[in-house]
Amino acid sequence: MRKILFLHGLNWSGDCPMAQTLQSGLEGFAEVTAPDLPVDPAEAIADILDICDRLQPDLIIGSSYGAFLGQQVVKITGCPALLCSPMFDMADFLETCPGVREFKSPRADGVTSYCVTGELIAKFREMEAHQFDCYDKFYYDRVWGFYGSRDTIATSRDKFSSLYSTVIDYDGEHTMSPENVKTTLLPAVLKIMDDFPRREARYFRHFKGNYYRLLCHAKDSESLERTVTYRALYGHYGFWTRGEHMFFERISRDGKEFPRFAETSHMSSVGNTPQRFAIFASGDGSNAENIIRFFREHDCGAEVALVVSNRRSAKVLQRAEQLDVPVAVVARDDFNDPEKILPLMEKHSVSVIVLAGFLLAIPPFLVNRYPDKIINIHPALLPRFGGKGMYGMHVHEAVVAAGETETGITIHYVNERYDEGKIIYQAKINIPPGCTPEEVAEMVHMLEYRHYPRVIMETFVTSEC
Ligand code: GAR
Repeated sequence: MRKILFLHGLNWSGDCPMAQTLQSGLEGFAEVTAPDLPVDPAEAIADILDICDRLQPDLIIGSSYGAFLGQQVVKITGCPALLCSPMFDMADFLETCPGVREFKSPRADGVTSYCVTGELIAKFREMEAHQFDCYDKFYYDRVWGFYGSRDTIATSRDKFSSLYSTVIDYDGEHTMSPENVKTTLLPAVLKIMDDFPRREARYFRHFKGNYYRLLCHAKDSESLERTVTYRALYGHYGFWTRGEHMFFERISRDGKEFPRFAETSHMSSVGNTPQRFAIFASGDGSNAENIIRFFREHDCGAEVALVVSNRRSAKVLQRAEQLDVPVAVVARDDFNDPEKILPLMEKHSVSVIVLAGFLLAIPPFLVNRYPDKIINIHPALLPRFGGKGMYGMHVHEAVVAAGETETGITIHYVNERYDEGKIIYQAKINIPPGCTPEEVAEMVHMLEYRHYPRVIMETFVTSEC
């Protein structure tokens, strides 16, 4: 059974309608734990971290105050999160309504009200100044925000969008109604848990370049301070421990700000030297251009060093030249000749090959030279609609002809057999009734632009640039 931690709003308790609707709507699929949270935000964070140590939730859902708290524990717990009407400016809001406030749902301890004092507002203000200390781009797609059309309280939308990719609108007030939960939140719960399942291991890249695996969270037995224990993935593979906040926080060096330890997805393929990508593409090259631009904008020690095409007239070559990326045309026969292709890769010090609409099979010698270093994107949900002859529009035509109601993208490592390498990431979309193959192609392209560069970065470089 999956586990979800629900964090309620300031005027509510764990026994609130949002939590109840989630609990009944997810019965049999996920267990929803909804504790009563202290109104003191530091006490609430401490409680939440303790609960997460015990519960190991797969997902955090927060509403208003709960979303303010949830955002701060995302990286510490490693959980994706759904943040409904997140309040990033609690102190300003509370200043507008000082005095005694009644809880709108019953608390287990029987307390029925709390008081908004100057002291409480000051505590919020202090926490707010540090609420993004643990932000990591790794969570860019893993935290989704929800904003109600009639909400006049949560003003965090712009800030939220600058940190996270997904904002979902719903027709409603600041606090979601049971109907909002059913129609908007529950489908998102299923989708985000499907997109980002629990990870067995968590890996981090220290800003100086070395990689580590997080082993556990623990408390210092004297001071009760929270710590993490982690293991170096180099040298003698030593074990280390340090204060939890210090492990997860951002730091500044030379005018730049970044996480001290940036989270990454795949240890199998990470390395300590800057990556140099060769993109192989046969056609239009819109993905190639998107990837080139992405790595230009993200200063993470990785760059597209070369674009290779088997077709002299392919538009991808013009796109690359316009962006001053070296290009090479390699005819089909030369492509299967190790004497031709390997020296080209060496000349440009290529460490990773990215396929973006490349229509020739990758010869075994190249797979052997680049084990787990060749990545492909396929415009459907493999293993369906893959294999020889299944590329570009042929895929979308087949998907529509089969009457599919959903399609998507598959990003995978490349082996010698078409579309059969280990899957790294998939994302799905629904196909509305009556959609043409061209419309499906456009929707799938959008999905590709959104995810492919990020997955390449997380697979071969780091989660944070
Ligand atoms: C992309 O949709 C990619 O997924 C697909 O070719 C298209 C290239 O578009 N690849 C395959 O079908 C591989 N089997 P682009 O040239 O605009 O980037």
